[in-house]
Amino acid sequence: MSVFAVKGDICYSTSPAKIEALNDGYVIVEAGRISGVTRNPPNISVHDYTGHIVIPGMTDLHTHAPQYPFRGLGMGMELLEWLDTLIFPEEGRYSDTSYAEQVYSSFAEAMRKSPTTRAVIFGTIHAHAANILSAKMESSGLVSYVGKVSMNRNAPDYLTEANPLEAVESWLSDTASYTSTKPILTPRFTPSCTDELMRGLGELRKKYDLPVQSHLSENVSEVQWVKELCPDSRSYADTYDRYGLLEAPSIMAHCVHLTDEEAGLLKERGTFIAHCPQSNMNLSSGIAPVRRYMNMGMNIGLATDVAGGMYISMFRAVADAVGVSKLRSVLAEKEEPLTFEEAFYLATMGGGKFFGLAGSFMPGYEADILVLSATDSRHSNLRERLEREICLAGDDVELSAKYAAGRKLF
Ligand code: GUN
Ligand code: FE
Repeated sequence: MSVFAVKGDICYSTSPAKIEALNDGYVIVEAGRISGVTRNPPNISVHDYTGHIVIPGMTDLHTHAPQYPFRGLGMGMELLEWLDTLIFPEEGRYSDTSYAEQVYSSFAEAMRKSPTTRAVIFGTIHAHAANILSAKMESSGLVSYVGKVSMNRNAPDYLTEANPLEAVESWLSDTASYTSTKPILTPRFTPSCTDELMRGLGELRKKYDLPVQSHLSENVSEVQWVKELCPDSRSYADTYDRYGLLEAPSIMAHCVHLTDEEAGLLKERGTFIAHCPQSNMNLSSGIAPVRRYMNMGMNIGLATDVAGGMYISMFRAVADAVGVSKLRSVLAEKEEPLTFEEAFYLATMGGGKFFGLAGSFMPGYEADILVLSATDSRHSNLRERLEREICLAGDDVELSAKYAAGRKLF
């Protein structure tokens, strides 16, 4: 059984309100899990990062690997135009496995170096390319879910599947060989999926006991379109719920414009909300009422939503979650903005909960550990150093070391 300690200036959430901060401490890892944090030098092998900040790994609850080359483009468009003009033609290219191989190699390498230790990822409709993505993620050392996307309407012919359910079952049979990379059912969003497809995916969910990911209530024109497409549904959320697709474990990205009834339904089902602040800015979607969702005790984490979001780094998502919540507190309802503590919690423990016990250094949590490279100690208060390092980070975060589920990636 592998036992070691990581030494440094340790910060981790124990609740949304509280970041524990301990200078010159040791995180003890036994068989892939945290057994404790201590001030006393332990009598085991020590990975010594004295002077460096040591924090839990981050969970990116929602991102699109095939959109990685499109980050930072199409900034003048809203969601639906952006999908039609840029994203669908780009995703069509993944029928070419050598293109998939090339992009997914660089995506997986960027994820390996990033602050993300766990991720839930969209591929495209192409099963072969989704398998390439799973293989790359498995080699990256991260823990992840990868979904072959399902779509059978309102898309160009090259992204409209004739037999989408058979395609999912055949893809599933090829995913069994991975240990850290699991399959997840991935209806793109209601406008891309007929009722028969949603019903079939609901049946596959039960048959294979699989999680589900999709998009919900992201953008005003999308919400309006879903009303027109599904006049007999109670709500956008109901277009998934009537086929069992909100039942935990399920992730719905965005949830910017949910009604109270829809939010109540997600709470009842235990659905995870993936809050994607940067994407919501870029695609003129709005500002999700995260304060309200947290007060309701909903399952919620943060996400990059590449390429709606242009940064792959979850540090940016933390800073943006605080930023957009301040705008919301002024522009919309008088909701208290998020604190840095709360945004850090969402990026670590909040999203980590989708994977079980991940995103903290409390005993029993999986050992996902980041060692930041900066050793600047002019800001002697550790909590302030942490905030500064995260908020000033660009997309190429420099880490000195990274561990996922107790395994050292570098
Ligand atoms: N809704 C449906 N597809 C997409 C997508 O690729 N990105 C985002 N942000 N929203 C979507
Ligand atoms: Fe998305």
